[in-house]
Amino acid sequence: MSPEEGCTAFAPATVGNVICGFDIFGLALEAPGDRVTAWPSSRPGVRIREIAGDGGRLPKNPDRNSATVAIRALLLSTGRHDGIEVSILKGLPLSGGMGGSAASAVAGVIAADALLGTKAPLEVLLQCSVEGEATASGGAHLDNVAPALYGGLVLVRPGRSRPVVRLPIPQELHVSLLHPEVEVSTREARRVLGTSVPLAEAVAQWGSTAAFVHALHSGDWDLLQDSLQDRIAEPRRAHLIPGFEAVRQAALDAGALACGISGAGPSMLSLCRGAERARAVGEAMASAFHQSVKFEASLHLSPVAERGARVEASSAETSG
Ligand code: HSE
Repeated sequence: MSPEEGCTAFAPATVGNVICGFDIFGLALEAPGDRVTAWPSSRPGVRIREIAGDGGRLPKNPDRNSATVAIRALLLSTGRHDGIEVSILKGLPLSGGMGGSAASAVAGVIAADALLGTKAPLEVLLQCSVEGEATASGGAHLDNVAPALYGGLVLVRPGRSRPVVRLPIPQELHVSLLHPEVEVSTREARRVLGTSVPLAEAVAQWGSTAAFVHALHSGDWDLLQDSLQDRIAEPRRAHLIPGFEAVRQAALDAGALACGISGAGPSMLSLCRGAERARAVGEAMASAFHQSVKFEASLHLSPVAERGARVEASSAETSG
């Protein structure tokens, strides 16, 4: 890929929390995702040429956009003073609980890293992406940024010497994700949580997170199902999600292992054993949603994606 053509990177949708692990678990889907193209510019600094797919709502001010803030952080941390222009193609909704701001930040640093040939270590790309994401959503959510960058299913521990731990992915684990065409701001979804948790709820939750990790390592589907409960965020957020109870009941009736809120919502996800089951569960979720709520919704079916963000081949490369 020649730099004059620009470098395009893709970063996938992600599910924060994975039901039982508020702020500590995240997983990547295969699609949809965001794309960022970076071009060299003779003018130093980072600028936005174009944003598509956002309905004109995202800031074009590079101080406020997650992709450009992340790219600036990359320039700073690698000691570069290049000029870069970017275009951003949003495949993910804004405030949708699908990790959209994280995906743009991650795609931005991957595209810029490829353009500049900096080959920055993953930990640096992670830190720069987190800075971008924090700008857009008001907080650094590693549970979206890390799976968008690394792919897979991850445990995140911000501030620790190993902030990202990759977890095993059971081969048959599939996700049915329903995205209602409404927005829930992450700031509001965090405000409703308050600042403290009763001890009994905390004990139940850390028991579930430990059981979840053990189930992934041992391939114990019964334990996996039993661990997928959220005692912290879901009880405080469910009222923000239109149709949540109807959708969850339909998912469980159709054979989902569990159904919960994706990240801060309003997207809802079910975890299922097998692609066929995930399809049936997803259709049941969509049907229950349409019967109980008058909003549109889109359904996404995916295994947990092994791969995270990557540089995509240019058309010149693929046709040659
Ligand atoms: N873990 C975060 C939350 C994800 O639930 O608020 C934000 O997308």
